[in-house]
Amino acid sequence: MPRKIVVTSALYYSNGPIHMGHLVESIQTDIWVRFHKLCGNQCLYFCADDTHGTAIMISARKEGITPEQLIDRAHKEHLTDLKRFFIEFDNYYTTHSPENRTFSELFFTRLRDAGAITKRNIDQTWCPNCNMALPDRFIRGTCPKCKAEDQYGDSCEVCGATYQPTDLINPRCSTCGSTPVLKQSEHYFFKLANYEKQLRDIFARGYIQESVSNKLDEWFTAGLKDWDISRDGPYFGFKIPGEEDKYFYVWLDAPIGYMASAKNYCDKNGLDFDAVWNGRDYELYHFIGKDIMYFHALFWPAMLVGTGFKTANKLFVHGFLTVGGQKMSKSRGTFIKAATYAKHLDPEYLRYYYASKLSAGIDDLDLSTEDFINKINSDLVGKFTNLASRAAPMLKSKFNGRLGKLDNEGKKLIEEIAAAEKEIIQNYENLNYAAVIRTATALADLANRYVEQNQPWTTIKTDPEKARTTLTATLNAVRILTIYLKPILPAFAEKIERLLNVGKLTFADVPAILQEHDINNFERLFERVDKEKVDAMIEESKETGEKQAMTPEPTPAITAEPIKPECTIEDFAKIDLRIAQVVKAERVEGADKLLRFQLDVGGIQKNVLAGIAQAYKPETLVGKIVILFANLKPRQMRFGLSEGMILASGTGGKEIFMLTADTGAKPGAKVS
Ligand code: MSP
Ligand code: ZN
Repeated sequence: MPRKIVVTSALYYSNGPIHMGHLVESIQTDIWVRFHKLCGNQCLYFCADDTHGTAIMISARKEGITPEQLIDRAHKEHLTDLKRFFIEFDNYYTTHSPENRTFSELFFTRLRDAGAITKRNIDQTWCPNCNMALPDRFIRGTCPKCKAEDQYGDSCEVCGATYQPTDLINPRCSTCGSTPVLKQSEHYFFKLANYEKQLRDIFARGYIQESVSNKLDEWFTAGLKDWDISRDGPYFGFKIPGEEDKYFYVWLDAPIGYMASAKNYCDKNGLDFDAVWNGRDYELYHFIGKDIMYFHALFWPAMLVGTGFKTANKLFVHGFLTVGGQKMSKSRGTFIKAATYAKHLDPEYLRYYYASKLSAGIDDLDLSTEDFINKINSDLVGKFTNLASRAAPMLKSKFNGRLGKLDNEGKKLIEEIAAAEKEIIQNYENLNYAAVIRTATALADLANRYVEQNQPWTTIKTDPEKARTTLTATLNAVRILTIYLKPILPAFAEKIERLLNVGKLTFADVPAILQEHDINNFERLFERVDKEKVDAMIEESKETGEKQAMTPEPTPAITAEPIKPECTIEDFAKIDLRIAQVVKAERVEGADKLLRFQLDVGGIQKNVLAGIAQAYKPETLVGKIVILFANLKPRQMRFGLSEGMILASGTGGKEIFMLTADTGAKPGAKVS
């Protein structure tokens, strides 16, 4: 009996492009789905974009577009990128959909009626200037532990400490720089602990891999805490029923987005959603990365239990991608976007490479460029492709493309390759793709050795029928190996199907043997990878300074930088401007933009560094009257202490203009 299977992978955030880390998951999932389809099972793969939350609202604001415009654009880009890597969804939807709103409200009301939702006041961090609640990641300040500057509100990237945003020294809103305040607000909480027993039962049934059960024990020991599921407006998301300005937290409606995607698919295809999503005939599996385990191992199944839906058969958790042994990094050029990769290299190489590294555990997997080049050139090209490219062109040119029959030795080879089917299927099922590749590579070695021993390029001259027999066995080996690799290499498989002049191959075709059959012309399969192409991809991925991969390029219509949030006249009045006279002005050694000034501010002497060396010669400035921002907090710079700021403005370089005069008001006088 064919199985009926529903599969999901985590929903991509709308405010960033698909990158090589995401692809670990989509490739792992897609291989599993394709594998099941090739076994004759009914398998449906649902995914979507994760569109709500503060980050998306702020990204849109910065670009001067609406969140809806931003998520529409992201949806198109994500889908284009994923399709290039042959990720084949049955439905790729969005969490900003009517289905998802309906389900989110249903979850909320059912959980509330079940007594699993409670309300209480919390102190939230609020930016009085942006007029919004600030998530921890949108607060920056000095780490309370190691004093590193410019750290996030929840953790320090320098010393690794975790803390509350209220612990930060000198906290600031990362959008506008204002000091946040605490503001009381009533929030909704989901009482996770209500479902502890049911969760334990679910885990006992094998919901999650062995390798992550330690984590679960930790969580249970720490105690299941209430989960804050509401956010105050302004927020991009779904409004909570009965509330004026409160919204569901993005992580509440995100997993519900799996269901919404399924529902949308069922409605479009005339299927019964209740049977597909909630019926016992269908198995359900979620693929996720280890960073979002808490949501999928605890909150999500508890929400499902609380609303009377079934939970998944299994949660498949994978590790993180590292590049060259380190976290992906924009400055090192290892934060590689899917689109950048596809510009330089064949997407199927990556599918093959990831498959060769993936197993069921949650260990991180490393992409090393040497290892990548080596695996592609010596295995994919040197072993699999080589087998076809040695045999097919010769059969075409010498025998008009007609296969002969297998002799005993050929039969033995093919039987041995076919005998691995069970093991291959087991390994796919258990997410042991690395083992699949190992087995297939060993079988390709066997077939290549067979070709070496039988030397068709020699026997073609002495005993052409013998040569045809050898080529026939070789191409039958190619056929079975192609079935084994088809979940990983769908486009390669299609080329081989065309070459062998056969229909769409599935696992059911393993035992068949091709004899006295005409094949088609050989088309090029894989090329070897050039190191230059890999280097070019990394070079293109290198980003410096402000240019951030996670912020999409601005739309062409908007060219000016966004204007900062309002500054009141009261803010402006804090600036104390004074007349000052230049006593001394000199160049600063080692800094070609800086001039050092000694200023007289009515008897007070101040040292000031100013970045105007390309616009003014210091000797022309001595004795001049300038205007000084006198109460600017002194700042220790690399070239000395600067105790104020000389007023000058311009776009930089030579284009800077000071307010100066030869004579005028008395030094120290107030300026208005
Ligand atoms: N939107 C949430 C998921 C909501 S699911 C109801 C999210 N999005 S994400 O875009 O940040 O990540 C999507 C998936 O990609 C997650 O499963 C995450 O673990 C995975 N990965 C993101 N970076 C990764 C690596 N560097 N390596 C491997 N997987 C990674 O989380
Ligand atoms: Zn702000």
